[in-house]
Amino acid sequence: MTDIWTELAAAGEAAEGRRILSLFEKNPDRFREFSVSLDDMLFDFSKTNIDAHSLTLLLELAAASGMPERRDAMFRGDPINLTEGRAVLHTALRNRSGAPVYVDGKDVMPEVEAVLARMADFASAVRDGAVGGKGGRFTDVVNIGIGGSDLGPVMATLALAPYADGPRLHYVSNVDGAHVHDVLAPLDPATTLVIVASKTFTTIETMTNARTAKAWLEKALGTSDGHFAAVSTALDKTAAFGVDPARVFGFWDWVGGRYSVWGAVGLPLMIAIGPERFSEFLDGAHAMDRHFATAPLPQNMPVLLGLVGIWHRNVMGYPSRAVLPYDQRLSRLPAYLQQLDMESNGKSVGIDGKPLPRASGPIVWGEPGTNGQHAFYQLIHQGTNVIPAEFLVAANGHEPDLRPHHDLLLANCLAQSEALMLGRDLAAAEKTVTDPALAPHKVFAGDRPSTTLIYDRLDPATFGKIIALYEHRVFVEGAIWGLNSFDQWGVELGKELATALLPLVQTGKGFEAKDGSTAGLLAALTALKA
Ligand code: F6P
Repeated sequence: MTDIWTELAAAGEAAEGRRILSLFEKNPDRFREFSVSLDDMLFDFSKTNIDAHSLTLLLELAAASGMPERRDAMFRGDPINLTEGRAVLHTALRNRSGAPVYVDGKDVMPEVEAVLARMADFASAVRDGAVGGKGGRFTDVVNIGIGGSDLGPVMATLALAPYADGPRLHYVSNVDGAHVHDVLAPLDPATTLVIVASKTFTTIETMTNARTAKAWLEKALGTSDGHFAAVSTALDKTAAFGVDPARVFGFWDWVGGRYSVWGAVGLPLMIAIGPERFSEFLDGAHAMDRHFATAPLPQNMPVLLGLVGIWHRNVMGYPSRAVLPYDQRLSRLPAYLQQLDMESNGKSVGIDGKPLPRASGPIVWGEPGTNGQHAFYQLIHQGTNVIPAEFLVAANGHEPDLRPHHDLLLANCLAQSEALMLGRDLAAAEKTVTDPALAPHKVFAGDRPSTTLIYDRLDPATFGKIIALYEHRVFVEGAIWGLNSFDQWGVELGKELATALLPLVQTGKGFEAKDGSTAGLLAALTALKA
């Protein structure tokens, strides 16, 4: 491993002074050799400064890191989440093979399938009106959850909007009362179903919002009976909250919150698009799982996406990456990936409890193109940081009448990666100006790396593949860094301190023991409090 890292560092130095375009000039097959396909999906990483030698080293690194063995252990149900002593089996939620999946010697597939079947029955009944509220058929469904109990379904509902023919979906996550207020205000309680989604059923934001929704229903209807469903691993707590057990959909501790959209947490999505489309979503993810589990490393899309990430983060030292979907309906993908990627790989300690020897998860951010072009692309093109860009675009939209829009979208996406790679030197810049003093401002350094993921259309199966691709990319990177991608201790301290601060905020007293800034802010807020 150490030797490979040393060789990679040398390869990185060679890349520093090399034009990406020169790699195409030397190798006419570069696009073919530095891209990989799965069905209609193609991942192109030829517009990076990875050459054949660097790729060989990266693949050797993946093999030497034990990543393939760890991948197999994950699919097998071994407890690879060592700090929590759990298996990591979100792949079982979308296992369509008919093969058993064992946790502690027990096949979990019958339970997985039973929950999916109950979800399908319930979703269908809500969709066709067989299950309704005090005012009849549910017109609106409000999902209350946060983090993994929100970001997946909220992103997916938007992504698959063309397939949404059920009740209207709404999401409340923030504990800020403005969120629950603004979502509930326009709704009719008599025709609203509330789903409380929380793996632990203790998350303070979710439980606070759930109690507010309950009070809203009770105030209008005299009761909240029949208007709640719940998604959780904590069935005792859902019962204590008063949710009818027939409306509770469980999952298991071997499904991480940020990996949970494939099961019960996906209930709102299933209600929106229907069980059949949801099933296609799972099929797509399963196809990516099979590919990840079986394709040789050099042809393995998640492995290559992960290795591009390693190259940029560790070899080139870039601290962030931008995810830029040229697909409006993937507008929440960057937010979703922020949790998936940064909660998984934002760690400084390895599985062995020792400090990591090198940088781990980068900062992930982004916005849909072309909006980003008119906002932060200035910095991507000409700023002092190099930010690898990850473009995503479909060949086809869902609006055949609006083909001219889609062609413009495609042209813009391709233009951006082209501009990032080619840049424009001073001589070329001078030709574009009459005042030579302006020329330096119009220079683009170029050699700014990007990858592009293309696919036919954002249908449920393709969408499932994309999300599974990113999940496995996070796995590949985490395994190479030697960290546990499946715990999240870094979110705990803030939660503990918030609990301790609440009485001080409520009473306006007891600030003395706090640090100077916190005490000062508490005093100032108390003085302002109405
Ligand atoms: O605080 C982080 C976190 O634990 C996430 O990992 C999780 O997705 C989120 O909170 C919500 O947790 P729960 O589903 O238990 O309410």
